[in-house]
Amino acid sequence: MNYQLDNKVCVITGAAGVLCSQMVKALAAAGASVALIGRTESKLEALAEELRKDNHQVCIAPADVCDRDALLKAKDKINSELGSIDILINGAGGNHPDATTALEEITGDDFEKSESFFGIDANAFQSVFGLNFIGSLLPSIVFGEDMSDKKDGVILNISSMSAYLPLTKVPAYSSAKAAVDNFTKWLAVHVAQRGIRVNALAPGFFVTDQNRFLLYQEDGKTLSARGEKIIQQTPMRRFGEAEELRDATVFLCSDASKFMTGQIVGVDGGFSAFSGV
Ligand SMILES: NC(=O)c1ccc[n+]([C@@H]2O[C@H](COP(=O)([O-])OP(=O)(O)OC[C@H]3O[C@@H](n4cnc5c(N)ncnc54)[C@H](OP(=O)(O)O)[C@@H]3O)[C@@H](O)[C@H]2O)c1
Repeated sequence: MNYQLDNKVCVITGAAGVLCSQMVKALAAAGASVALIGRTESKLEALAEELRKDNHQVCIAPADVCDRDALLKAKDKINSELGSIDILINGAGGNHPDATTALEEITGDDFEKSESFFGIDANAFQSVFGLNFIGSLLPSIVFGEDMSDKKDGVILNISSMSAYLPLTKVPAYSSAKAAVDNFTKWLAVHVAQRGIRVNALAPGFFVTDQNRFLLYQEDGKTLSARGEKIIQQTPMRRFGEAEELRDATVFLCSDASKFMTGQIVGVDGGFSAFSGV
């Protein structure tokens, strides 16, 4: 078994987020040097400080994942501070309330257009789609080049349960994550003979700032009807804890999974296995 990541340089986008910060800590604990990408420097710096206290090698490279020039600048900084890149986790992503329909379904003639798909803000749709899809595509182009040059590397995309079968209310997020799955398989084939593996991790339901408004009522404690439905659809009958993604991340980024590519791996308490009946 080889779960070691010693001497590996790993770039993580969305690094300071709830799920990705756990992935970062797991990769650093496995021996990797970590390069943290996100838009807010202070959030990256706070995480970097924590890692440095444990003597991990870390570099922060603030950038928007939808901005190719900013990513190229980030790559220069990472290359000069940590060296050539071995692993990329495309973690930046998420939904936005403006790209969400209030209605799950249109059930009759008397419905509020603004609460349905027909009132959706197309710009907000494009922005959520762009963050989740283009925000995985551009870093793969920019950071994958180092991997291609040395014929060795791993790209790990972050998918969602909404990619298998779309969840109601979140059409932009769902279609973008479905595109991420498709792209994962496409790229895996394209670069297999250059020694690059491309997989995706599909988390089930973990509570974060971006989905809290969908899972809980305003008091932040009582489940919403949607949160309740999700728990009933999850055979383990609970939301995931962010730490529960750590081992799967190290597995997919290390030689422990060296004959795996083009796979979408669910960590979901059984959600995707359950028909609901
Ligand atoms: N939470 C869940 O249950 C769940 C389930 C399935 C999949 N996922 C996926 O898991 C990934 C991590 O989600 P999370 O829940 O941990 O999210 P989160 O806590 O909201 O973190 C998202 C991170 O991405 C960064 N980010 C957002 N837009 C960015 C941009 N344009 N460029 C660079 N960085 C950007 C944010 O930092 P800045 O704002 O500072 O840039 C933030 O640190 C996402 O891809 C999400 O779709 C989450």
